[in-house]
Amino acid sequence: MSLTLTDITLTYPDGEDRLTALDRVGLEVPRGSLTAVVGPSGSGKSSLLAVAATLITPDAGTVTVDGTATTGLTRGELAALRRHRIGIVFQQPNLLPSLTAAEQLQVMARIEGRNPRAARSRALALLDAVGLADRADHRPHQLSGGQRQRVNIARALMNDPTVLLVDEPTSALDHERGAAVIDLLTRLTHQRATATVLVTHDRTHLTAADRIAEVHDGRLHLQAPVR
Ligand SMILES: Nc1ncnc2c1ncn2[C@@H]1O[C@H](COP(=O)(O)OP(=O)(O)OP(=O)(O)O)[C@@H](O)[C@H]1O
Ligand SMILES: [Mg+2]
Repeated sequence: MSLTLTDITLTYPDGEDRLTALDRVGLEVPRGSLTAVVGPSGSGKSSLLAVAATLITPDAGTVTVDGTATTGLTRGELAALRRHRIGIVFQQPNLLPSLTAAEQLQVMARIEGRNPRAARSRALALLDAVGLADRADHRPHQLSGGQRQRVNIARALMNDPTVLLVDEPTSALDHERGAAVIDLLTRLTHQRATATVLVTHDRTHLTAADRIAEVHDGRLHLQAPVR
């Protein structure tokens, strides 16, 4: 078991009151499997990912990453856990305009103080794995939207995470390119044995999921996969 959320409750300040974004949510994501998270806008999907990413501390409940319970860890310990264990792919690629595709990935290794030559070869191998071997030296403006999103995914894998959290990676892409990104995520999940959580609006993506979690008003309901 690689990512476990136990009884998570998260509230945000809301005027005089508090808004309950996640209400006693439990979820287990084994390595090598993909859980799709669906639900209406405002239902709590991104909040769920932010808690799983340890970017937000919930009011109650526990996040366990790779056997490590994150409750009580210091900010520094959480940051290290994120760098080593968690890959995060946001909706917008957030690539640095002046860096080539390979350099976007190498930056991740530099933060860790890894050997630059090893980082370069790992970056090139990952770009190859996402089908961008011939785009390694292109900058973001020289890449298509789908290619930028694939660089984004490769970057999230640079430190070999066990947990891969992906928020609406296809919303800026047309259907065909979106489907290709989902295929890629499914393949990488199996090849690299990541515990993957994919937030998506597109119901056609659900066939790629091992499990489907539907979020409604902060409550999570597990559904059988569409097969
Ligand atoms: N920082 C915040 N402060 C206060 N309320 C917030 C904050 N972030 C989110 N919310 C509220 O929490 C609820 C859940 O938001 P969340 O972003 O998790 O929804 P979502 O399911 O990702 O929606 P979408 O599909 O539109 O991205 C919403 O009602 C939202 O307005
Ligand atoms: Mg969201």
